[in-house]
Amino acid sequence: MTYGVQQIDAPLTAHAVFLVLSLEPGEAAAATVRAALADLSGVVETVGFRDPAAMLSCTVGIGSGVWTAVTGTPPPAQLHAFRPVVGATYTAAATPGDLLVHLRSDRADLCFETQRLLMDRLRGAVRVEDETTGFRYFDQRDLLGFVDGTANPVGDDVPGATRVGEEDGLHAGGSYVVTQKYLHALDRWSSLPAEVQEQVIGRTKLDNVELDDAAAGQRSHKTLTTIVDDDGTERDILRDNMPFGSPGAGEFGTYFIGYCRDLWVIERMLERMYVGDPPGLHDRILDFSVAVTGTTYFAPSAAFLDALGTPTATAPPADGSLGIGGNRPSNHPPS
Ligand code: HEM
Repeated sequence: MTYGVQQIDAPLTAHAVFLVLSLEPGEAAAATVRAALADLSGVVETVGFRDPAAMLSCTVGIGSGVWTAVTGTPPPAQLHAFRPVVGATYTAAATPGDLLVHLRSDRADLCFETQRLLMDRLRGAVRVEDETTGFRYFDQRDLLGFVDGTANPVGDDVPGATRVGEEDGLHAGGSYVVTQKYLHALDRWSSLPAEVQEQVIGRTKLDNVELDDAAAGQRSHKTLTTIVDDDGTERDILRDNMPFGSPGAGEFGTYFIGYCRDLWVIERMLERMYVGDPPGLHDRILDFSVAVTGTTYFAPSAAFLDALGTPTATAPPADGSLGIGGNRPSNHPPS
């Protein structure tokens, strides 16, 4: 499939839009959002079919504060609002946001058109908290000049790293999503010698080769964001960071977005970046980058979204299911 909804592993594209929305109070607003989400696959088909090669994808995340009002179901087991991380020097702050719309395509106009049609349906029911348009920068580089996304899982490894399984049956096939919008002090960063920048990131700048982990003391970004669980298994997440900015306004940034099967994996990465490992030695990327937003959502499967269009989905039965028989969201990731 070359276009679609909730395809978190959609291929890397040249353009992306990150739209963060807050829900207006009242049942009418929640019903409007529910109807728009139930019809999301229709909107994406309408636009995506006009140029399938441009790989339009639209992924929606729903926050803990509005989950039940919007979907009529109990929230995913691990879903909660973004938890601020307070380090000795820097803090990862939580900011408002009930809904995330993550649009990707190789054509900016397809992202724009999808966003336009979606906002037509949502108008009056939501407030726009932030709208960021990202672009691919050379060979997948961020504005710090490094190739970004190399260590992402690929192929068969993606579902296990990103999609909730039978441990949370109603929400199987969905993913937890964390976003942070970072602004860079590019002048200061650019004045560092490339070798120092490479130590901060943990990879060489020109050819993207991984550097060895430091034996002790200050650790690089790639080391601090490598998470191993109690069984000694490395736990990956899927990132689709995008550069954004406005040279005229002196704004240069990276929009961080991470998808994961277990929310704690990204939370532990943030803790290691902001608190440091050992504590006190924070990720030096933060000396040149400030996070101006911090939000958490759950992106349900495409089947789950489609099922929101079934009238009985609005009145959840006590067993926590959508109560819509054969239309109940699949326990398997959509193909
Ligand atoms: C790795 C950039 C924020 C998680 C990397 C790499 C770069 C990078 C260049 C090395 C290449 C790669 O494997 O992708 C940035 C920038 C950020 C940022 C510019 C914002 C200013 C974050 C945040 C997280 C994160 C907030 C998670 C909470 C990771 C992970 C890796 C990584 C998991 C791969 C580590 C490994 O090698 O296994 N990042 N990053 N990054 N980053 Fe970030």
